[in-house]
Amino acid sequence: MSERRHWEQVYADMGTPWDLGGPCPALDEVTEAARLQGFRDGCTVAVPGCGLGHDAAWLAARGFQATGLDLVPEALDRARAVYGEPPAWRVGDWLAGAHGPFEAILDHTFFVALHPDQRPEVVAAHARNLLPGGFWLGIFYHRVRQPGIRPWAVQPEELRALAEPFFEVLDLQSARTSHPRRLGRECWMVARRR
Ligand SMILES: C[S@@+](CC[C@H](N)C(=O)[O-])C[C@H]1O[C@@H](n2cnc3c(N)ncnc32)[C@H](O)[C@@H]1O
Repeated sequence: MSERRHWEQVYADMGTPWDLGGPCPALDEVTEAARLQGFRDGCTVAVPGCGLGHDAAWLAARGFQATGLDLVPEALDRARAVYGEPPAWRVGDWLAGAHGPFEAILDHTFFVALHPDQRPEVVAAHARNLLPGGFWLGIFYHRVRQPGIRPWAVQPEELRALAEPFFEVLDLQSARTSHPRRLGRECWMVARRR
């Protein structure tokens, strides 16, 4: 089964159990930390695996040139219906081909949604779609309720080791603000494309 078909089926069969109904609460933390490192107001930001688009809309409302990208057209139709444009909404496979380059990407529950075997591919796709010096802002689970199924936890040191060949890791911390469902289980990272 193709990845797209797989995710279309996830939407059809399971709905969107990951969805927070609004932007990720840790966005203020991670964007503030990134600003200290030179993340520029108004820059181009891709949100791969944007789902129902809350984070891309949050960025667009703050003046960033945001693009929400997802494999599943239904997700983007729903995002567009709620938030309009901007942000730009694009159907595509982040892991295939070129989508950027962007000045930054925001990965929230995308990296941890894909199987751990795919992690090097995800990191390579992030690097490929960023300009040199571009920022990867990421929010991850370091602990999950049910190991062995999606979402997959990643340990900070594991993340650092995966990112380092392409990125300089500038900041990596436990999230202070999380949705109540995720409290104490998230971390975030700011990394710069080498
Ligand atoms: C767990 S959901 C997270 C959605 C959103 N980031 C959020 O936190 O609400 C993962 C999303 O990634 C999308 N996705 C999976 N593989 C993808 C790929 N290769 N390219 C683009 N999107 C992908 C899925 O369709 C799904 O919407």
